[in-house]
Amino acid sequence: MSHASFPAIRMRRARVSAWSRALVAETVLTPSDLIWPVFITDGKDVEEPIATLPGVSRWSVDRLVDHARTARDLGIPCLAFFPNTPPALRDATGSEALNPDNLMCRAIRAVKDAVPDIGILTDVALDPYTASGHDGITDEAGYVLNDETSKLLVEQALTQARAGADIIAPSDMMDGRVAAIRSALEAEGYINVAIMAYAAKYASAFYGPFRDAVGSRGLLKGDKKTYQMDPANSEEALREVALDLAEGADYVMVKPGLPYLDIVRRVKERFETPTFAYQVSGEYAMIEAAVAAGAGERDALVLETLLAFKRAGCSGVLTYHAVHAARLLGA
Ligand code: PBG
Repeated sequence: MSHASFPAIRMRRARVSAWSRALVAETVLTPSDLIWPVFITDGKDVEEPIATLPGVSRWSVDRLVDHARTARDLGIPCLAFFPNTPPALRDATGSEALNPDNLMCRAIRAVKDAVPDIGILTDVALDPYTASGHDGITDEAGYVLNDETSKLLVEQALTQARAGADIIAPSDMMDGRVAAIRSALEAEGYINVAIMAYAAKYASAFYGPFRDAVGSRGLLKGDKKTYQMDPANSEEALREVALDLAEGADYVMVKPGLPYLDIVRRVKERFETPTFAYQVSGEYAMIEAAVAAGAGERDALVLETLLAFKRAGCSGVLTYHAVHAARLLGA
């Protein structure tokens, strides 16, 4: 076999015009690739901007419904809900997570009712509900207890499923919780409620603005390194994914996003399963900071970073830029 070379091959030929670039594009980004994380707060007609997440606000349930409609109209298939639980309702065991009338459940019911054709993904973890800001219940030493927490997560997942959640997304990194949640969902007849496991979730410095948004940052002492993964590891991420799939996860997620695209690629190649990534709050904040500093242009940064997730192998991306990106893609 002969190998053609210059000038028979000129790689720049395909790049010479917009139509030929489009023709050979290997990856496309569409609004249907986007999952939009939203923050919910108590009250009526409330919008609370989040200082460390410029351009993102918490909304009361009524406002959320309007934004859900907008998202649906833009072709965004799914929303991810995160509640900012009133401080007085946070306690040692995160009991508000199990209240069928909590903010999360009210939001699920309201959006399902008004915008039935958009998917709702709900986070399973106790950090928006515990006084410690941790994802689970803690012992006297502050260690997050695995099996005790897992039992509560099962109840939390059932509470969300009963309210109408479509995808249960455990983000807590407890061992064994996917199997426990799956069997509880099956037992209650929620056979088509899916599980998207935060399978490879790292103990990351990129979550700060999110913790402001759900009100857990000020409460949290220390870090989450005894349950979230060490950024040094990738073999371990593959084991985590293998376990969650074996336990019954339908989809797996890698988090954070851009700094962990190597993990996305390895997961996709190894498991050939729908793989998602979360472009987390600190990543969003970095882009916005770059724009504010005049170091980059928002539209281009948003589209390039999101396309990178697709190229790495993602089926979809959770991103706070979802609406902005969908508008750009629809234009
Ligand atoms: C909590 C949770 C976190 C995020 C999603 N679910 C934060 C954490 O683990 O401390 C982070 C999302 C983001 O930073 O945008 N279980």
